[in-house]
Amino acid sequence: MSQTLPNPAEPRGVGPLPPGPTAPWWGLPLLRRMQADYLGFTGGLRRDYGDVTYMRLGWERAWDVFDPELVRAVLVDEADHLVRWERGIEVLEQVFGQSVLVTEGESWRRQRRMLQAAFTPAKVAGYAALMRDAARSGLDAALPAGAAEGVVAMDPLFARLAMDVILRTLFSRPAADDAAAAADAVQLLSETAMREMFQPFTLPDWLPLPGKAAKRRAIRTLKSLVRGHIDARRDAPAQPDLLGMLLALRDVEGGGALSPAEVFDQCMVSFQAGHETTATALLWWSALIAEHPEAAARARAEVDALGGDPGPEHLVALPWLTATLKEAMRLYPPVAALMTRRTTAPIAIGPWPLPRGAVIRITPAIIQRDPRWFERPDEFVPERFMPGAPVIPRGAWMPFGAGPRVCLGQHFALLEMTLIAAMLLQRYTLEGPLDAGWRVADVNVTLRPRRPVRLRLRRRGDQPAVGPAGR
Ligand code: HEM
Repeated sequence: MSQTLPNPAEPRGVGPLPPGPTAPWWGLPLLRRMQADYLGFTGGLRRDYGDVTYMRLGWERAWDVFDPELVRAVLVDEADHLVRWERGIEVLEQVFGQSVLVTEGESWRRQRRMLQAAFTPAKVAGYAALMRDAARSGLDAALPAGAAEGVVAMDPLFARLAMDVILRTLFSRPAADDAAAAADAVQLLSETAMREMFQPFTLPDWLPLPGKAAKRRAIRTLKSLVRGHIDARRDAPAQPDLLGMLLALRDVEGGGALSPAEVFDQCMVSFQAGHETTATALLWWSALIAEHPEAAARARAEVDALGGDPGPEHLVALPWLTATLKEAMRLYPPVAALMTRRTTAPIAIGPWPLPRGAVIRITPAIIQRDPRWFERPDEFVPERFMPGAPVIPRGAWMPFGAGPRVCLGQHFALLEMTLIAAMLLQRYTLEGPLDAGWRVADVNVTLRPRRPVRLRLRRRGDQPAVGPAGR
């Protein structure tokens, strides 16, 4: 419902403000409500106040945008007048350094320009064999040898698998004992980052406070893993992996290479941006597939028809499987809320003027369940992503963001997820146990199921010969 009443929290000199909630104490109670239930609170903003809302949060003035067209107008047309919210960057920078995820301005443009070359669909297709190796070894070991079925904790399975994919594609090394520790470290850092973003500043990590020692250990684990792999490469021949690509990148403008620190930071960021997101997407997808046997059977029929291992050339032959993955990311976008933006110049969102310094929040998890764009918005309906389905307005489905800062790894992620999902369905059928509360989600850096997802995997007897049909 849209309201046109002026917002009583209107500060002087900003111009008309869209409607939104108000609270005493500079809006601090709103911040507490947001922290307690991020999506419930943000969904309430859209429901109660409409497509553009305003609120005061402490010393910040925040606008939320829910209309897909306006979201694109902000992220695409106004991209030059936005930076990422400094507090979020400060928190991420501690772990991921000056990588493309956090830099701004010329430094970001240069990094993005260079890295883009390593993430084109054609380049990404070249990692398919490494992705398949990881999927094969992870999935074959999902059940003990000889067991026909068993209940499997899917969270660690996908976390290890996605970590193995990142390790193999980055460094051409299969995950060893360090993979599980690295996956745990990413998870812990993600939870810590979300907590810290709600604090006005981060207390130094050396202070003897709860959680600080674990955070220090997690950062050390990741950094020493990345450092070890980069050092091992120093005198080794060039490899056809992502690290090889990063080392070989030359800027088209000026010809410079990434500095050693930049290479290190880009490797670090691939762990957070590229591992947890994909693992989380697959986790939600697997639960939805277990809950919808008909959708699962249709996807299985598609992958069986391949007659062997899937490859990038088979993506077009897997429209239903792709639709199930897209629908899973609609219901549970791993990045539930984009990184908050700040305006660096006055802009307008539709009829509403925003001053320089305004904070803008965009939340795919809410936008993607809007009944105006998605009939039965809370149900799993992969048909909406099949060819011939009614067109979804641009910006209404945006799990990878939009505009120049759209996910760098989106082709990588889609290929990885499709290969893993296809190879899982070739090997096993998936069933509950899913209790009634399995859909409860927590917003960390990614949107995680609150309870562990455990599924019964049954080895398939009618499995087609799995071999090198794909490349
Ligand atoms: C299902 C998997 C994934 C999802 C849902 C996802 C989602 C996103 C989203 C929403 C953004 C934009 C955030 C914003 O605008 O604030 C983003 C940025 C980014 N993603 Fe992904 N991502 C995924 C996988 C990956 C992978 C596999 C990689 C790399 C290996 C990757 C690397 C990045 C990087 C580097 C950025 C920052 C780009 C920039 O700021 O220029 N992502 N991702």
